[in-house]
Amino acid sequence: MSQRYYIVGNWKMNGMRAALSEARAIDRAAQRLPKVEVAIAPPVTLIAAMREGLTGTGVGAQNCHHAEKGAHTGDLSAPMLREAGADFVIVGHSERRADHHETNEQVKAKAEAAQAVDMGVILCVGESEAERDSGEAEEVVARQLAASLPDTAQRLSVAYEPIWAIGTGRVPQVSDVAAMHKRLRTVLTDKYGDEGADVRILYGGSVKGENAEELLAVAEVGGALVGGASLTADGFVPIIAAAAEQD
Ligand code: PGA
Repeated sequence: MSQRYYIVGNWKMNGMRAALSEARAIDRAAQRLPKVEVAIAPPVTLIAAMREGLTGTGVGAQNCHHAEKGAHTGDLSAPMLREAGADFVIVGHSERRADHHETNEQVKAKAEAAQAVDMGVILCVGESEAERDSGEAEEVVARQLAASLPDTAQRLSVAYEPIWAIGTGRVPQVSDVAAMHKRLRTVLTDKYGDEGADVRILYGGSVKGENAEELLAVAEVGGALVGGASLTADGFVPIIAAAAEQD
């Protein structure tokens, strides 16, 4: 793979200012391992402080509104997040699709809003446990991705996150990850042609230091989106190091 591995921490609704010391420790490791592109998406309240304090780590947001501004109480637009210091935004995470009923159409609009202000996008897709058990996972996730993709591949990454693997300690078989990533690559090249070959497809769902090497070695896995294990340097740095050791 010609591109660097992309290892992204999704802090979700975790992290007060006291957690900035963990981010700084992660940043020191990222600076020592420049072969890997490292980023953290903290709660919005920490974006500006992280942007000021970290030099080797990308800082992003976990969501944005699709509009640039307007009467949307409590929401934040991509230009606002960018001005606050975010360089990318995660869109379509399964927790937002579930908690906030976000549709594929909205996810696409959010991705395009971020691209319009030159932010990177990490677009999440994944199947439920029932969909996996019924043998439909590849079909379902391929359809979800096709319907959520923005019109261009500008600064786009995709994260495949089986919902049943998020925060559970369970991970799919390596062969299932390989099959899914291969399928998603086809969706990307169908949509974007050659440019679709350069979109990194991250794996997410219970990635830890202990399983990172195996998951990152899978063909078409270009990085990881990490929740729980990204909250501390002790949890996150071994994953970054595993990426640095890949060929
Ligand atoms: P997890 O979360 O690593 O805690 O399973 C991953 C995610 O939701 O992005």
